Amino acid sequence: MELNDKLFQAAEYFETNPDTSIAFGTEAFPALHCEFPRIGDKTVLICAGGDASFYKSGAFSAVMRAVGRSDLNAPRFENIPPEPDTECVRKIVCRMEEEKPEIVIAVGGGSVMDAAKAAYLSWQTGMDVRALFGNGVASKAFPEKVFKRVWSLPTTSGTGSEVTPYSNIIDAENGVKCLIVEPQIVPEYAFVLPELTLTLPRKVTVDTALDAMVHSIESLLNIKAGKEHPEAAAWAVLSVSLIRDSLPLLSNDSENPLLRTALSAAACLGGMCIKVCPTSLPHLCSFSFCGKATHGAAVAALLPHFWRYYLANPEIAERTMLLANVFPGKTPEEIVDSCEKFIQNMGIETAPGTLSGTDSSFIDILAENAKLNPVKLSTAPVPIDPESAGTVFHQVLDQVWSR
Ligand SMILES: [Fe+2]
Repeated sequence: MELNDKLFQAAEYFETNPDTSIAFGTEAFPALHCEFPRIGDKTVLICAGGDASFYKSGAFSAVMRAVGRSDLNAPRFENIPPEPDTECVRKIVCRMEEEKPEIVIAVGGGSVMDAAKAAYLSWQTGMDVRALFGNGVASKAFPEKVFKRVWSLPTTSGTGSEVTPYSNIIDAENGVKCLIVEPQIVPEYAFVLPELTLTLPRKVTVDTALDAMVHSIESLLNIKAGKEHPEAAAWAVLSVSLIRDSLPLLSNDSENPLLRTALSAAACLGGMCIKVCPTSLPHLCSFSFCGKATHGAAVAALLPHFWRYYLANPEIAERTMLLANVFPGKTPEEIVDSCEKFIQNMGIETAPGTLSGTDSSFIDILAENAKLNPVKLSTAPVPIDPESAGTVFHQVLDQVWSR
Protein backbone atom coordinates (compact mmCIF):
# COMPACT_ATOMS: atom_id res chain seq x y z
CA MET A 1 0.00 0.00 0.00
CA GLU A 2 1.28 3.47 -0.87
CA LEU A 3 1.88 6.01 1.86
CA ASN A 4 -1.08 8.11 0.72
CA ASP A 5 -3.39 5.09 0.93
CA LYS A 6 -2.13 4.34 4.41
CA LEU A 7 -2.87 7.92 5.45
CA PHE A 8 -6.35 7.62 4.02
CA GLN A 9 -6.83 4.48 6.11
CA ALA A 10 -5.53 6.30 9.21
CA ALA A 11 -8.02 9.13 8.61
CA GLU A 12 -10.84 6.58 8.61
CA TYR A 13 -9.64 5.21 11.94
CA PHE A 14 -9.48 8.74 13.39
CA GLU A 15 -13.11 9.31 12.45
CA THR A 16 -14.21 6.32 14.52
CA ASN A 17 -12.09 7.18 17.56
CA PRO A 18 -14.29 7.56 20.63
CA ASP A 19 -13.78 10.17 23.37
CA THR A 20 -11.48 12.56 21.47
CA SER A 21 -12.53 14.32 18.27
CA ILE A 22 -9.43 14.11 16.11
CA ALA A 23 -9.09 16.82 13.47
CA PHE A 24 -6.10 15.75 11.42
CA GLY A 25 -4.01 17.42 8.73
CA THR A 26 -5.89 19.81 6.49
CA GLU A 27 -8.99 19.41 8.66
CA ALA A 28 -7.25 20.54 11.84
CA PHE A 29 -7.00 24.28 11.25
CA PRO A 30 -10.63 24.78 10.07
CA ALA A 31 -11.82 22.66 13.00
CA LEU A 32 -9.85 24.78 15.46
CA HIS A 33 -11.25 27.91 13.83
CA CYS A 34 -14.81 26.53 14.10
CA GLU A 35 -14.53 25.62 17.76
CA PHE A 36 -13.29 28.97 19.03
CA PRO A 37 -16.58 30.88 18.76
CA ARG A 38 -18.10 28.63 21.40
CA ILE A 39 -15.69 30.08 23.97
CA GLY A 40 -17.49 33.42 23.64
CA ASP A 41 -16.03 36.01 25.96
CA LYS A 42 -14.66 33.45 28.37
CA THR A 43 -10.99 32.71 28.94
CA VAL A 44 -8.81 30.18 27.15
CA LEU A 45 -5.53 29.33 28.84
CA ILE A 46 -2.77 28.25 26.46
CA CYS A 47 -0.18 25.92 28.02
CA ALA A 48 3.10 25.72 26.14
CA GLY A 49 6.67 24.49 26.43
CA GLY A 50 9.90 26.01 27.64
CA ASP A 51 11.88 26.43 24.43
CA ALA A 52 11.24 28.46 21.36
CA SER A 53 9.38 25.59 19.69
CA PHE A 54 5.99 27.06 20.57
CA TYR A 55 6.80 29.99 18.28
CA LYS A 56 9.31 28.35 15.90
CA SER A 57 7.02 25.46 15.05
CA GLY A 58 4.29 27.84 13.96
CA ALA A 59 1.98 26.63 16.74
CA PHE A 60 1.59 30.08 18.25
CA SER A 61 0.61 31.69 14.97
CA ALA A 62 -1.68 28.75 14.11
CA VAL A 63 -3.60 29.22 17.34
CA MET A 64 -3.77 32.98 16.95
CA ARG A 65 -4.94 32.71 13.33
CA ALA A 66 -7.56 30.19 14.39
CA VAL A 67 -8.76 32.52 17.12
CA GLY A 68 -9.19 35.10 14.38
CA ARG A 69 -10.03 37.90 16.79
CA SER A 70 -8.03 40.15 19.02
CA ASP A 71 -10.40 40.51 21.96
CA LEU A 72 -10.26 36.89 23.18
CA ASN A 73 -8.82 36.59 26.65
CA ALA A 74 -6.08 34.03 25.96
CA PRO A 75 -3.38 34.18 28.62
CA ARG A 76 -0.42 31.83 28.25
CA PHE A 77 1.41 29.63 30.73
CA GLU A 78 4.76 29.01 29.04
CA ASN A 79 8.04 27.31 29.95
CA ILE A 80 6.59 23.95 30.91
CA PRO A 81 9.81 21.87 31.02
CA PRO A 82 10.45 18.39 29.66
CA GLU A 83 9.62 15.85 32.39
CA PRO A 84 7.29 18.16 34.37
CA ASP A 85 7.04 17.58 38.10
CA THR A 86 4.37 18.12 40.73
CA GLU A 87 5.68 21.63 41.48
CA CYS A 88 5.26 22.63 37.86
CA VAL A 89 1.71 21.25 37.83
CA ARG A 90 0.89 23.20 41.01
CA LYS A 91 2.11 26.42 39.38
CA ILE A 92 -0.22 25.82 36.42
CA VAL A 93 -3.07 25.16 38.86
CA CYS A 94 -2.37 28.53 40.55
CA ARG A 95 -2.58 30.22 37.18
CA MET A 96 -5.86 28.45 36.47
CA GLU A 97 -7.14 29.68 39.80
CA GLU A 98 -6.33 33.25 38.72
CA GLU A 99 -7.64 32.99 35.17
CA LYS A 100 -10.56 30.57 35.64
CA PRO A 101 -10.31 29.26 32.05
CA GLU A 102 -13.26 27.82 30.21
CA ILE A 103 -10.87 25.98 27.92
CA VAL A 104 -7.25 24.88 28.34
CA ILE A 105 -5.28 24.27 25.14
CA ALA A 106 -2.09 22.24 25.51
CA VAL A 107 0.27 23.18 22.70
CA GLY A 108 3.47 21.14 22.69
CA GLY A 109 4.93 17.68 23.11
CA GLY A 110 3.96 15.01 25.59
CA SER A 111 5.33 16.89 28.60
CA VAL A 112 3.18 19.93 27.96
CA MET A 113 0.07 17.89 27.30
CA ASP A 114 0.64 15.71 30.38
CA ALA A 115 1.20 18.72 32.63
CA ALA A 116 -1.87 20.55 31.30
CA LYS A 117 -4.07 17.45 31.67
CA ALA A 118 -2.94 16.90 35.26
CA ALA A 119 -3.28 20.57 36.19
CA TYR A 120 -6.76 21.00 34.72
CA LEU A 121 -7.98 17.93 36.59
CA SER A 122 -6.31 19.07 39.82
CA TRP A 123 -7.86 22.54 39.53
CA GLN A 124 -11.36 21.23 38.86
CA THR A 125 -11.29 18.57 41.56
CA GLY A 126 -9.51 20.71 44.14
CA MET A 127 -7.24 17.72 44.72
CA ASP A 128 -3.47 18.08 44.88
CA VAL A 129 -1.74 16.45 41.90
CA ARG A 130 -0.03 13.87 44.15
CA ALA A 131 -3.45 12.67 45.31
CA LEU A 132 -4.41 12.04 41.68
CA PHE A 133 -1.64 9.49 41.03
CA GLY A 134 -3.11 6.09 40.30
CA ASN A 135 -6.01 4.70 38.38
CA GLY A 136 -9.25 6.68 38.07
CA VAL A 137 -8.84 8.52 41.39
CA ALA A 138 -10.86 11.58 40.34
CA SER A 139 -13.65 9.50 38.80
CA LYS A 140 -13.93 7.49 42.00
CA ALA A 141 -13.89 10.60 44.20
CA PHE A 142 -16.53 12.37 42.07
CA PRO A 143 -18.57 9.55 40.49
CA GLU A 144 -21.34 11.86 39.23
CA LYS A 145 -19.20 14.66 37.89
CA VAL A 146 -18.01 15.16 34.32
CA PHE A 147 -14.93 17.36 34.17
CA LYS A 148 -13.91 19.67 31.36
CA ARG A 149 -11.07 18.28 29.32
CA VAL A 150 -8.16 19.95 27.57
CA TRP A 151 -7.84 20.55 23.87
CA SER A 152 -4.53 19.26 22.53
CA LEU A 153 -2.34 20.55 19.76
CA PRO A 154 0.76 18.34 19.49
CA THR A 155 4.02 19.79 18.15
CA THR A 156 5.90 16.47 18.17
CA SER A 157 4.90 13.08 16.80
CA GLY A 158 5.45 10.44 19.42
CA THR A 159 3.70 10.47 22.74
CA GLY A 160 0.09 10.12 21.58
CA SER A 161 -0.89 12.06 24.70
CA GLU A 162 -3.29 14.02 22.51
CA VAL A 163 -5.74 11.10 22.76
CA THR A 164 -4.80 9.19 25.93
CA PRO A 165 -6.02 9.07 29.55
CA TYR A 166 -2.41 9.17 30.80
CA SER A 167 -0.31 11.87 32.41
CA ASN A 168 3.28 11.18 33.51
CA ILE A 169 4.45 13.52 36.23
CA ILE A 170 7.59 13.39 38.39
CA ASP A 171 6.85 13.48 42.10
CA ALA A 172 9.10 16.36 43.23
CA GLU A 173 9.24 14.92 46.75
CA ASN A 174 11.04 11.73 45.76
CA GLY A 175 12.03 12.17 42.10
CA VAL A 176 9.92 9.18 41.03
CA LYS A 177 7.94 9.37 37.79
CA CYS A 178 4.30 8.65 38.57
CA LEU A 179 1.31 8.04 36.37
CA ILE A 180 -2.21 9.41 36.43
CA VAL A 181 -4.61 7.13 34.58
CA GLU A 182 -7.95 8.88 34.34
CA PRO A 183 -10.61 8.69 31.62
CA GLN A 184 -11.56 12.28 32.42
CA ILE A 185 -8.22 13.63 31.17
CA VAL A 186 -8.59 12.21 27.68
CA PRO A 187 -8.47 15.42 25.61
CA GLU A 188 -11.79 16.56 24.22
CA TYR A 189 -10.23 17.61 20.90
CA ALA A 190 -6.94 16.77 19.23
CA PHE A 191 -5.98 19.22 16.51
CA VAL A 192 -3.11 17.49 14.74
CA LEU A 193 -1.23 19.75 12.35
CA PRO A 194 1.77 17.80 11.00
CA GLU A 195 3.31 20.99 9.62
CA LEU A 196 4.10 22.01 13.21
CA THR A 197 6.66 19.17 13.30
CA LEU A 198 8.55 20.22 10.15
CA THR A 199 11.41 21.88 12.00
CA LEU A 200 11.92 19.26 14.70
CA PRO A 201 15.59 18.28 15.01
CA ARG A 202 16.56 14.82 13.78
CA LYS A 203 17.23 13.46 17.27
CA VAL A 204 13.83 14.53 18.61
CA THR A 205 12.17 13.16 15.49
CA VAL A 206 13.81 9.75 15.94
CA ASP A 207 13.24 9.55 19.71
CA THR A 208 9.59 10.48 19.48
CA ALA A 209 8.88 8.29 16.45
CA LEU A 210 10.44 5.27 18.14
CA ASP A 211 8.35 5.96 21.24
CA ALA A 212 5.25 5.87 19.02
CA MET A 213 6.46 2.67 17.37
CA VAL A 214 7.00 0.97 20.73
CA HIS A 215 3.55 2.10 21.90
CA SER A 216 2.00 0.41 18.90
CA ILE A 217 4.05 -2.79 19.19
CA GLU A 218 3.58 -3.17 22.95
CA SER A 219 -0.12 -2.55 22.46
CA LEU A 220 -0.28 -5.20 19.73
CA LEU A 221 1.41 -7.67 22.09
CA ASN A 222 -1.11 -6.97 24.87
CA ILE A 223 -3.17 -10.00 23.96
CA LYS A 224 -5.50 -9.83 26.95
CA ALA A 225 -6.75 -6.29 26.25
CA GLY A 226 -6.49 -7.05 22.53
CA LYS A 227 -9.28 -9.59 22.87
CA GLU A 228 -11.58 -6.87 24.19
CA HIS A 229 -10.39 -4.40 21.55
CA PRO A 230 -9.66 -6.38 18.39
CA GLU A 231 -9.86 -3.17 16.33
CA ALA A 232 -6.60 -1.93 17.90
CA ALA A 233 -4.43 -4.53 16.13
CA ALA A 234 -5.04 -2.89 12.74
CA TRP A 235 -4.27 0.56 14.19
CA ALA A 236 -1.00 -0.78 15.60
CA VAL A 237 0.14 -2.48 12.39
CA LEU A 238 -0.70 0.65 10.37
CA SER A 239 1.11 2.88 12.85
CA VAL A 240 4.30 0.79 12.75
CA SER A 241 4.13 0.56 9.00
CA LEU A 242 3.86 4.36 8.64
CA ILE A 243 6.94 4.81 10.82
CA ARG A 244 8.90 2.13 8.95
CA ASP A 245 8.06 3.90 5.65
CA SER A 246 8.75 7.47 6.69
CA LEU A 247 11.37 7.72 9.45
CA PRO A 248 14.41 6.52 7.44
CA LEU A 249 13.57 8.86 4.54
CA LEU A 250 13.28 11.88 6.84
CA SER A 251 17.02 11.79 7.58
CA ASN A 252 17.68 13.31 4.15
CA ASP A 253 14.39 15.11 3.68
CA SER A 254 13.48 16.41 7.12
CA GLU A 255 10.86 18.92 6.01
CA ASN A 256 8.98 16.60 3.68
CA PRO A 257 5.29 17.27 4.52
CA LEU A 258 4.07 13.81 3.47
CA LEU A 259 6.64 12.01 5.63
CA ARG A 260 5.91 14.30 8.58
CA THR A 261 2.19 13.65 8.12
CA ALA A 262 2.89 9.91 8.23
CA LEU A 263 4.70 10.25 11.56
CA SER A 264 1.98 12.43 13.08
CA ALA A 265 -0.64 9.89 12.02
CA ALA A 266 1.45 7.03 13.40
CA ALA A 267 1.83 8.76 16.76
CA CYS A 268 -1.87 9.49 17.04
CA LEU A 269 -2.69 5.87 16.14
CA GLY A 270 -0.16 4.74 18.78
CA GLY A 271 -1.99 6.84 21.36
CA MET A 272 -5.31 5.25 20.35
CA CYS A 273 -3.66 1.83 20.73
CA ILE A 274 -2.26 2.30 24.24
CA LYS A 275 -5.48 3.88 25.44
CA VAL A 276 -7.24 0.52 25.04
CA CYS A 277 -4.29 -1.93 25.10
CA PRO A 278 -1.67 -0.48 27.44
CA THR A 279 2.09 -0.99 27.27
CA SER A 280 4.00 -3.45 29.45
CA LEU A 281 7.61 -4.19 30.43
CA PRO A 282 9.67 -1.96 28.09
CA HIS A 283 7.66 1.08 29.17
CA LEU A 284 7.61 -0.02 32.79
CA CYS A 285 11.41 -0.36 32.86
CA SER A 286 11.98 2.82 30.86
CA PHE A 287 10.98 4.91 33.89
CA SER A 288 14.27 3.89 35.53
CA PHE A 289 16.23 5.34 32.57
CA CYS A 290 14.93 8.83 33.32
CA GLY A 291 17.96 11.20 33.17
CA LYS A 292 20.14 8.50 31.58
CA ALA A 293 18.57 8.28 28.13
CA THR A 294 15.59 9.80 26.38
CA HIS A 295 12.28 8.01 26.83
CA GLY A 296 12.08 7.00 23.15
CA ALA A 297 15.63 5.61 23.10
CA ALA A 298 15.05 3.70 26.34
CA VAL A 299 11.84 1.97 25.25
CA ALA A 300 13.33 1.20 21.82
CA ALA A 301 16.44 -0.34 23.41
CA LEU A 302 14.39 -2.49 25.78
CA LEU A 303 11.70 -3.61 23.34
CA PRO A 304 13.51 -6.34 21.34
CA HIS A 305 14.78 -8.13 24.47
CA PHE A 306 11.43 -8.29 26.26
CA TRP A 307 9.72 -9.13 22.98
CA ARG A 308 11.96 -12.21 22.57
CA TYR A 309 11.06 -13.19 26.13
CA TYR A 310 7.35 -12.81 25.32
CA LEU A 311 7.69 -15.18 22.35
CA ALA A 312 7.50 -18.09 24.79
CA ASN A 313 3.76 -17.39 24.66
CA PRO A 314 2.40 -18.90 21.38
CA GLU A 315 -0.26 -16.19 21.13
CA ILE A 316 2.46 -13.54 21.14
CA ALA A 317 4.30 -15.41 18.41
CA GLU A 318 1.09 -15.37 16.39
CA ARG A 319 0.51 -11.64 16.96
CA THR A 320 4.12 -10.96 15.98
CA MET A 321 3.48 -12.48 12.56
CA LEU A 322 0.98 -9.64 11.91
CA LEU A 323 4.07 -7.46 11.42
CA ALA A 324 5.64 -9.75 8.79
CA ASN A 325 4.91 -7.22 6.03
CA VAL A 326 6.48 -4.41 8.06
CA PHE A 327 9.62 -6.02 9.44
CA PRO A 328 10.65 -8.82 7.07
CA GLY A 329 10.88 -12.28 8.57
CA LYS A 330 9.55 -15.79 8.14
CA THR A 331 9.43 -16.48 11.87
CA PRO A 332 8.55 -14.34 14.90
CA GLU A 333 12.22 -14.37 15.92
CA GLU A 334 13.27 -13.02 12.51
CA ILE A 335 10.64 -10.26 12.75
CA VAL A 336 11.99 -9.15 16.12
CA ASP A 337 15.53 -9.24 14.68
CA SER A 338 14.37 -7.04 11.77
CA CYS A 339 12.74 -4.59 14.14
CA GLU A 340 15.92 -4.41 16.23
CA LYS A 341 17.99 -3.78 13.10
CA PHE A 342 15.58 -0.96 12.16
CA ILE A 343 16.06 0.66 15.58
CA GLN A 344 19.85 0.36 15.30
CA ASN A 345 19.77 1.85 11.80
CA MET A 346 18.06 4.89 13.31
CA GLY A 347 21.20 5.37 15.42
CA ILE A 348 19.78 3.98 18.66
CA GLU A 349 21.86 1.65 20.84
CA THR A 350 19.85 -1.46 21.75
CA ALA A 351 22.22 -2.63 24.47
CA PRO A 352 20.47 -0.98 27.46
CA GLY A 353 23.68 -0.74 29.51
CA THR A 354 25.65 0.90 26.71
CA LEU A 355 22.75 3.29 26.11
CA SER A 356 22.45 4.33 29.75
CA GLY A 357 26.12 4.04 30.75
CA THR A 358 25.36 1.60 33.56
CA ASP A 359 26.68 -1.86 34.38
CA SER A 360 24.50 -4.93 34.78
CA SER A 361 23.92 -4.29 38.48
CA PHE A 362 21.42 -1.70 37.22
CA ILE A 363 19.16 -4.61 36.26
CA ASP A 364 18.47 -5.09 39.98
CA ILE A 365 17.29 -1.47 40.18
CA LEU A 366 15.01 -2.05 37.18
CA ALA A 367 13.51 -5.05 38.98
CA GLU A 368 13.09 -3.21 42.28
CA ASN A 369 11.37 -0.28 40.55
CA ALA A 370 9.20 -2.63 38.50
CA LYS A 371 7.94 -4.25 41.69
CA LEU A 372 6.35 -0.90 42.57
CA ASN A 373 3.89 -1.64 39.77
CA PRO A 374 2.96 -5.29 40.37
CA VAL A 375 -0.11 -5.02 38.11
CA LYS A 376 2.08 -4.34 35.06
CA LEU A 377 4.19 -7.38 35.96
CA SER A 378 1.23 -9.69 36.42
CA THR A 379 -0.48 -8.50 33.22
CA ALA A 380 2.67 -8.73 31.05
CA PRO A 381 2.29 -11.00 28.00
CA VAL A 382 4.33 -13.55 29.96
CA PRO A 383 3.29 -12.74 33.54
CA ILE A 384 6.00 -12.22 36.17
CA ASP A 385 5.60 -12.84 39.88
CA PRO A 386 7.01 -9.67 41.54
CA GLU A 387 9.31 -11.80 43.71
CA SER A 388 10.88 -13.30 40.57
CA ALA A 389 11.28 -9.97 38.74
CA GLY A 390 15.03 -9.79 39.47
CA THR A 391 15.69 -13.33 38.24
CA VAL A 392 13.59 -12.88 35.10
CA PHE A 393 15.07 -9.48 34.25
CA HIS A 394 18.60 -10.89 34.58
CA GLN A 395 17.59 -13.81 32.38
CA VAL A 396 16.26 -11.43 29.73
CA LEU A 397 18.90 -8.71 29.90
CA ASP A 398 22.22 -10.12 31.19
CA GLN A 399 23.47 -11.31 27.80
CA VAL A 400 22.47 -8.15 25.97
CA TRP A 401 23.16 -5.48 28.59
CA SER A 402 26.37 -4.09 27.10
CA ARG A 403 28.38 -4.51 23.97
FE1 LIG B 1 6.08 6.10 25.61
